[in-house]
Amino acid sequence: MNYEDVMKLALERGFYFPSCEVYSDAQAGFWEYGPSGVSLKNKFLELWRRELIRRDGMFEIDGSQIMSKSVFEASGHLGSFADPIIKCKKCKSTFRADRTISEISNMEIPESADLIEFDKAILQSNIKCPKCKGDFENTKKFNMMFRVGIGPEEEEAYLRPETCQSIFVDFPRLFKIMRGKLPFGIAQVGKSFRNEISPRQSLLRLREFYQAEIEVFCNPSRLNDVEKFSEIQNTIIRIQTDSEPFAMTCKEAIESEIVPNKFVAYYLGILTEFYEKTGIDITKSRFRKLGEKEKAFYAEAAFDFEVETTIGWLELVACNYRSDYDLSSHAEKSKEKFEVMDNDKKVLPHVFEISMGIDRSLYTILEHSLNDDKEHERIVLSIKPYLSPIHVGVLSLIKKDGLKEKTDEIYLQIKRKFDAFLDHSGAIGRRYRRLDEIGAPFAITIDHETLKDDTVTIRKRDSMEQNRIKISELDSILTESLAYP
Ligand code: GLY
Repeated sequence: MNYEDVMKLALERGFYFPSCEVYSDAQAGFWEYGPSGVSLKNKFLELWRRELIRRDGMFEIDGSQIMSKSVFEASGHLGSFADPIIKCKKCKSTFRADRTISEISNMEIPESADLIEFDKAILQSNIKCPKCKGDFENTKKFNMMFRVGIGPEEEEAYLRPETCQSIFVDFPRLFKIMRGKLPFGIAQVGKSFRNEISPRQSLLRLREFYQAEIEVFCNPSRLNDVEKFSEIQNTIIRIQTDSEPFAMTCKEAIESEIVPNKFVAYYLGILTEFYEKTGIDITKSRFRKLGEKEKAFYAEAAFDFEVETTIGWLELVACNYRSDYDLSSHAEKSKEKFEVMDNDKKVLPHVFEISMGIDRSLYTILEHSLNDDKEHERIVLSIKPYLSPIHVGVLSLIKKDGLKEKTDEIYLQIKRKFDAFLDHSGAIGRRYRRLDEIGAPFAITIDHETLKDDTVTIRKRDSMEQNRIKISELDSILTESLAYP
């Protein structure tokens, strides 16, 4: 199923919808998660914590969204976090230069290319304003951070454009209080903000978005000294250097020197294992090694984890080897010490980052899990049971004869432990179909037999198979079937 199908599901079943939609001055690039979206996001993050944070013994923090100007002077965002833009001389509309050129002429110019490259391409391909056919002014840089004024004096500060800056700034304290040892992983989930010139495609390019970022601090002279490598050496990852992606084990990726060291390969391996468990089709994924001009300004080496969808390859995670770029910049600007002891030597750690876009990941899970079951005339979200927004529907066959009361009683018994959805009204078939669309792996129905023998019908989403079980068995059946892998 495609982007439009996911959009329809998102709007109708409460996954996500536009922010401030009742007002005409609602701005593009801001979306809300509804109850189904929040539930899915929470479960996705629990899986992320299990498979990456707790698996690797990392620590999680929750930093401020507004940060001082000094942070972004040091990080380089004030100077370098800018998109190339072009403005029409006639209608004054503004566009992203790289995207407009690629859409009109198919020429791919990396966003970090010299501005002159865009001007040359515009001239060469005779590119005009898509709105009014006017000519463009020369390409300029537009800083994507949102500036905010603090207090009555409106002192300059910024909404963070990436969550990780607080991890870097807090590193000396965190290393000390957690009695850190390299490698030392710190993670953070939260919102970041970027003033995108052309936000689009709902969750795929937002101005306010969720990131789950991991920064692993390491000793650059010990990048092949990774005990845990054996855990993932046979895990298959797909890597694309220039042409088609090809599958190889993490061990082969090291032997062929496609991945520079065991430290990076280990994290590419556990990241792949995590995404496999989200239910996305991992055979449609690749780690794309970025070229010099494509990398972010702070990255020494970068692999984007991308997944193929009906609207093309989506970057879900940026894996950046940031070297000591951030710690040395913050050390210099703040005059604080960022070195730590490792093997009796002082070292300024390097950083490998796994920067995950949560919104895009959720979109991709939805697209890869949504099926049109034509045989049974239903749309089914065949999502992994542990990620499903609703675990179980609790339905009364009819409201009369004491069935409503019995259904309410069962719902009360299970609702604190499971995400249960109580539904008394409408044709039972239609109620099942609504639950199928929202991805509920189970529905139980309370009927006249329930009153006689304390059994209910349990229906499975994917097979539509129905069985009779005792109410006393319900807890253990659900607990077992919904467990994280
Ligand atoms: N921290 C890297 C990014 O936001 O892309």
